[in-house]
Amino acid sequence: MQNKPMVVVLDSNPNSREILASYINEMDFIQEVKLYSDYNQGLEEIKSLKDDVIVILDISQGNSDEFIEKVRLHVSKLIITSTDYSTNMIVKALRMGAKEFLPKPVLKNDLFRVLKMFADENYSSEDSNSKVISVYSNKGGIGKTVIAVNLAKELAQVTKSKVALVDLNLQLGDVATFLNLNPIFDVSYVMKNFVGKNEDEFLKSFEQYKDSSLYVLSDPTYIEQAERISPQEIVSLFKAMKKVFTYIIVDMSSAIDENSLKILDCSDLIFFTTIVNIPAIRNAQRCLNLFKSRHYPNDKVKIIVNRYMDNDEIKIEDIENTLGEKIYWKIPNNYFTIMDAINKGVSISEVNSSSNIGNNFREFAMKVSDDIIEQAVIQYRM
Ligand SMILES: Nc1ncnc2c1ncn2[C@@H]1O[C@H](COP(=O)(O)OP(=O)(O)OP(=O)(O)O)[C@@H](O)[C@H]1O
Ligand SMILES: [Mg+2]
Repeated sequence: MQNKPMVVVLDSNPNSREILASYINEMDFIQEVKLYSDYNQGLEEIKSLKDDVIVILDISQGNSDEFIEKVRLHVSKLIITSTDYSTNMIVKALRMGAKEFLPKPVLKNDLFRVLKMFADENYSSEDSNSKVISVYSNKGGIGKTVIAVNLAKELAQVTKSKVALVDLNLQLGDVATFLNLNPIFDVSYVMKNFVGKNEDEFLKSFEQYKDSSLYVLSDPTYIEQAERISPQEIVSLFKAMKKVFTYIIVDMSSAIDENSLKILDCSDLIFFTTIVNIPAIRNAQRCLNLFKSRHYPNDKVKIIVNRYMDNDEIKIEDIENTLGEKIYWKIPNNYFTIMDAINKGVSISEVNSSSNIGNNFREFAMKVSDDIIEQAVIQYRM
């Protein structure tokens, strides 16, 4: 039997502190509740606690994002409360890394449900809203790896959540080269030996990128080591990853085979990538028809235009008219900065974060995480 969790409440309102304490004291699955009106003092306590800890942080008085971030660094089981429960506020709370938002006054049943969930020994902090995002195009050399690598890196940077970057372009994968990694384990080895292990061991089979919250699973260094993988193994890998990572970014080959279709079917989002030229757009059209025939939900496939230039003869509206779909994001053409990053084996933001493409990837990551959170809020409100 594991230790019962502690609860630390940071709330400047004495009434709500007392009410929360009286509710929590009735919950026999909580070890102890500590109350703080002084937030900095509360933060010091959180830092010193070695036990499993759940924090209830009230932000009705408009606490700074910086403070919330500091709390988030030390706890994953964070509940934010506020008297303002507008959609904007909920989005903000979830974006700042809160796992739950409770409107004030907090209802006893809601509090019980959330604390019980956190106290459950099988609770996994990252599973509930985990998303598999595949970067795909049925054309080669279009920028899938550039996008997967840099989106994953920026998502980890912007959200501070655990992000996995998985190279499923088996035999021809470039992820390890783009980030200058020498992985100990490769995808097929991990699929066969680590899926099903406990979370800590499973996580160790990934290579952490520098000190960030980005974890990489590359393809084998030597082509002859690449073992065949089955669609069923892909399903099991995704399932295991969803317990550990908030975002799972998949770099794919341009093949349309059994494995690619399995990856696409199992993805929550597909970033279908094209560039501004007629053959690429024709290809995109064919591929979007294929997706339609597989009955993917409307908002599962998002179109990304890569290597965009303002003076392109073909305009974004033309592409949208041809494809009958809105463009979700466009990434500027910047060959020099990208090649500089690839040659140095680092992400674009590490060679030039203020370049047009450096900014673009940061904003792209923010949009992706905001849209996913907004979707969660809509479900929250239902
Ligand atoms: N936004 C961009 N601006 C300028 N050049 C780019 C851009 N995106 C990609 N490139 C160039 O295109 C090349 C191919 O990109 P990348 O390897 O990401 O394509 P891919 O779709 O993954 O290819 P493959 O199908 O072979 O896996 C890069 O090496 C880079 O030179
Ligand atoms: Mg590639």
